[in-house]
Amino acid sequence: MLEKIKEIREAMQQELQTAESAGQLRDLKVKYLGKKGSISELSKSMGKLSPEERPQAGQLVNELRCLLEENLEAKQKEIAAKAMQARLAAEQLDVTLPGAPVKMGTKHPLTLVVDEIKDIFLGMGYTVAEGPQVELDYYNFERMNLPADHPARDMQDSFYIDARRLLRTHTSPVQARVMDQMRPQYPIKIIAPGAVYRRDDDATHSPMFHQVEGLVVDENISLADLKGTLLNFVRQMFGEDREIRLRPSFFPFTEPSVEVDISCMLCGGEGCRTCKNTGWIEILGAGIVHPNVLEMSGYDSEKVTGFAFGFGVERIAMLKYGIDDLRVMFENDVRFLQKF
Ligand code: PHE
Repeated sequence: MLEKIKEIREAMQQELQTAESAGQLRDLKVKYLGKKGSISELSKSMGKLSPEERPQAGQLVNELRCLLEENLEAKQKEIAAKAMQARLAAEQLDVTLPGAPVKMGTKHPLTLVVDEIKDIFLGMGYTVAEGPQVELDYYNFERMNLPADHPARDMQDSFYIDARRLLRTHTSPVQARVMDQMRPQYPIKIIAPGAVYRRDDDATHSPMFHQVEGLVVDENISLADLKGTLLNFVRQMFGEDREIRLRPSFFPFTEPSVEVDISCMLCGGEGCRTCKNTGWIEILGAGIVHPNVLEMSGYDSEKVTGFAFGFGVERIAMLKYGIDDLRVMFENDVRFLQKF
């Protein structure tokens, strides 16, 4: 029996030495420890030994089992480590390679233009005001000197929410809201950018578009201040050699009212398609704040005067970037958006 144990032990050690794969280790385990394995057989044949021989043989068989288990475990770790080494060598992992690129978003051209407009007016000492897009009829029309039966309301066909509320048709109601907050203080110098809504829809009109309103209220404000301010703005926005021209117009909330044109930046005033051969492009409406608007807002129109202007942001963006269809601004095609 002792002889046999020794034999098995030597054979086993030999086989452990040469085993090279996880599969071979599994086979070894079965061969020695399985139901019919050599060590299991040894244990079974213990009964045949004399009581004197049994303890020593039992101890040796136990040692044998421990030896095998320890070796199997060590060998398994060794094989796993080798396999990992081989895999790393084969993959040739290069940690200096660039990673998968993350696509960055860009600002929408309208946001870029509004940011630039804000910068220019902040530089002239203006602050930025805001008002609601769902506006009261009261602010959108009445406080802008357009009472319920005023025919000029038809010019701005509107989206009504109910009898009292609508989607604002222009940013002008922010004028009244700011004056309500400021009264009786002046000077007031604000711009109010934001979305406005009208029932219009073609290549140059969208039912939703953006305006920037401007309002200045102080003593001795004149049309000359308005013209100087707008000229300064236009030159910063479109270049130092731009000129502007004021044409008489009508808005219920300004008197006198003007339409402001800028000399065409494409042909320099010679005449081209963009300026319809006139050399001038209309960019905004403006005027001296109507006394009724000042009085309704609690200001003494004998003491203070003001000017106001409002322009379309899409129009400025189209001129600045040479975009010929307004609708691409709202389609959000990334090929278009990535150009800015
Ligand atoms: N609110 C006018 C419009 O939407 C523009 C404007 C603003 C005109 C301020 C004069 C003064 O057409």
